[in-house]
Amino acid sequence: MNTLLSLRGVTKRFGGLVAVNRMDFDVAQHQVLGLIGPNGSGKSTTMNLISGAFPVSSGVITLRGQPITSLAAQDIARRGISRTFQLVRLLPSMSVLENVKAGAVFGHRRHWGPDADAIAETMLEKVGLAGRGHMMVGQLTYIDTKRVELARVLAAEPKVLLLDEWLAGLNPTELEEGIRLIRGLRDEGRTILLVEHVMDAIRSLCDRCVVMAAGTKIAEGTPAEVLSDPTVIRAYLGDDDA
Ligand SMILES: Nc1ncnc2c1ncn2[C@@H]1O[C@H](COP(=O)(O)OP(=O)(O)O)[C@@H](O)[C@H]1O
Ligand SMILES: [Mg+2]
Repeated sequence: MNTLLSLRGVTKRFGGLVAVNRMDFDVAQHQVLGLIGPNGSGKSTTMNLISGAFPVSSGVITLRGQPITSLAAQDIARRGISRTFQLVRLLPSMSVLENVKAGAVFGHRRHWGPDADAIAETMLEKVGLAGRGHMMVGQLTYIDTKRVELARVLAAEPKVLLLDEWLAGLNPTELEEGIRLIRGLRDEGRTILLVEHVMDAIRSLCDRCVVMAAGTKIAEGTPAEVLSDPTVIRAYLGDDDA
């Protein structure tokens, strides 16, 4: 197993709250790892620690064996980790193309000018937005803003993609399309850490899953294994009662 991304003892405290508690997991090259768990279990915080949005309280995160734990977010992006946000974050005053171009400019390799334009056009085509680069982000439907965000991530030419509930809020038809898009990325052999609530997506996309509850890893295995694990079922049922 060729490990790309690795977390060891990764912990995040917000004041007295331990949002992420000694997390350990590895993401192998070409693997789709699902990070799942009830609301508030620490999934987005884990993504934020990996992408450098928040500093870790303790523990080590490595990319290809190199520690990235204390790097700034832009340096982590340069190393090849690119992400989407649970709430779509695009620049509304910029066109679709410019938003995607930002991925190429600030991503793993520095692309400029026509080179960045070409990459952005290619990625827009890939996510099904060919010819829409001139539109303003504010004119787009919700799923199309999600597509733009995915195109921006891809334009960064990441070694590891972090997708935080990229499928959330889609209607059933859009969801099918969204799952198809991510499956396409998977089939290209990309390495993906996927935070997801949609069970169909977890079952059909993930090679393995890590399950979190209250900041802690409570299970790890194939989707079939973890989704039939009584501890996991209890954690999710507890969430429904809350
Ligand atoms: N910036 C922050 N400041 C304080 N507490 C936070 C912050 N971000 C997340 N939390 C808390 O950390 C816990 C985990 O949140 P989060 O990682 O967003 O969970 P999930 O993505 O699994 O729903 C929650 O209790 C949340 O309120
Ligand atoms: Mg979240």
